[in-house]
Amino acid sequence: MTQQEHQQTAGLPLPGARLLAAAALVRPGRVVADIGTDHGYLPAYLVRAGICPFAYASDIRPGPLAKARETVRKYGLDSRVCCLLGDGLEQVPPGKAEDIVIAGMGGDMIANILANAAWLQNPAVHLILQPMTAQNALRRWLCENGFAIQTETAVCESRHVYTVMSVYYIGRASKWDEVFLQVGRHGDNRDAASAAYMRSRAQRLQKKVRGMERAAHSDPDAIRSYQETIDTILRMVERCENS
Ligand SMILES: C[S@@+](CC[C@H](N)C(=O)[O-])C[C@H]1O[C@@H](n2cnc3c(N)ncnc32)[C@H](O)[C@@H]1O
Repeated sequence: MTQQEHQQTAGLPLPGARLLAAAALVRPGRVVADIGTDHGYLPAYLVRAGICPFAYASDIRPGPLAKARETVRKYGLDSRVCCLLGDGLEQVPPGKAEDIVIAGMGGDMIANILANAAWLQNPAVHLILQPMTAQNALRRWLCENGFAIQTETAVCESRHVYTVMSVYYIGRASKWDEVFLQVGRHGDNRDAASAAYMRSRAQRLQKKVRGMERAAHSDPDAIRSYQETIDTILRMVERCENS
């Protein structure tokens, strides 16, 4: 039975592979908050599947939140999923959620949401972050603000490869370099999706380098430095594919 058939048989909402990868990182038995929930599939899935006893589903816009309320009603979860209208975590009672998912937004926006919720600076809180863009900016913000990326999972959906981060507050800044900003923890992984993720990051940088080379006032040192980063990432891809 495929995962989709299983979910349909069990009467579960059907989040795609990207959101299921985020769901797989949520600690069973914990109260979860899904920030930017949109349709509310993720919290409905987590509660309905018995992974979480209770969930907060929050969105900044009334339209998406109405969709989340509809999902909650459809699956009979009114007493176990609380829908909240608000910016980031502003409506989530501090300390009430232990696992926080922020998926499907840009890395800068995710960093901004985290910066506005000081109660997340607690090693007991688990953050599951899935940036669509600006992954490097998010990794840098996390490193500089006392959060550590423990693992990253790569997931392929609709011909795109996404990263999902598992993050904890450690209370001290971590060192980073350009390779880490680009590929994060994927260098630790040995699966095809992580290899594809790292390759796509190298290709993106290669494009940037070509643009820099064409520019009227190119900076040879910057180009050399990016090229070294690309070469390192491609060696990591090779290691990942050959092990
Ligand atoms: C592209 S959807 C992602 C939905 C779902 N999390 C996913 O990954 O498929 C982004 C959602 O985040 C909401 N959003 C954007 N900024 C937000 C903020 N500051 N606080 C809460 N929700 C926000 C949007 O209204 C939208 O519903």
